[in-house]
Amino acid sequence: MMSVTEIFFWIIVIILIWQIVIRIGRKVWHFPAPSFIGGFLDSDFRRWIQPPDLLLSRSGIERGMTVLEVGCGSCCFTPFAVKMAGPEGKVIGFDIQKEMLDQCSEKETELPELVQADAYNLPFCENTFDAVYMVTVLQEIPDPHTALMECRRVLKKGGVLGVSEFLVDPDYPLKRTTIAMGENAGFVVDGVEGGFWNYTVRFRKP
Ligand SMILES: C[S@@+](CC[C@H](N)C(=O)[O-])C[C@H]1O[C@@H](n2cnc3c(N)ncnc32)[C@H](O)[C@@H]1O
Repeated sequence: MMSVTEIFFWIIVIILIWQIVIRIGRKVWHFPAPSFIGGFLDSDFRRWIQPPDLLLSRSGIERGMTVLEVGCGSCCFTPFAVKMAGPEGKVIGFDIQKEMLDQCSEKETELPELVQADAYNLPFCENTFDAVYMVTVLQEIPDPHTALMECRRVLKKGGVLGVSEFLVDPDYPLKRTTIAMGENAGFVVDGVEGGFWNYTVRFRKP
């Protein structure tokens, strides 16, 4: 019979092995997060470990802003962005997978405008948004540089880009990787908030 300590130990070992296997696999196979994890992405547990209001304020979202969420998935964060931008603002969320957006539509909260689109080719004009944000998305996109250049194109001059990452995500990058990617795409760092396991880098379009 295993003791509680042994059970805890083996759970940690299994999680670590799973993380290593999935991270190696992600280097070889690029595919969007499967839509069946939408329930986890938009769960109370997720909101507990990544509080939406905190992430959005770290991302620079303010009242009255025109906001775009890249890869909104099952809309864990977008309803909170709608509240934060208020009636004077506007929020649009997009995702490449219709199956993810369908899960947003099932919610009974106030939703943003939802669009099915690819981060490589955004269906918006230049200088449209005050703020663009994304949570655990950038590294999932095979060519993140092109996606960042698109974010830059649709942002207004002085606009803010929030990139949030979370250690549990198999595509998790270190802060310095995210910073380098943003800077390579012509952004300047405006702030870095949060710890190692759950951080946001806020950039500005100069
Ligand atoms: C790990 S999920 C995160 C979803 C949401 N941001 C969240 O934190 O709950 C990543 C999302 O990015 C989307 N995605 C991946 N590649 C994309 C692309 N090229 N364009 C738009 N969305 C993309 C996926 O469909 C998926 O919904």
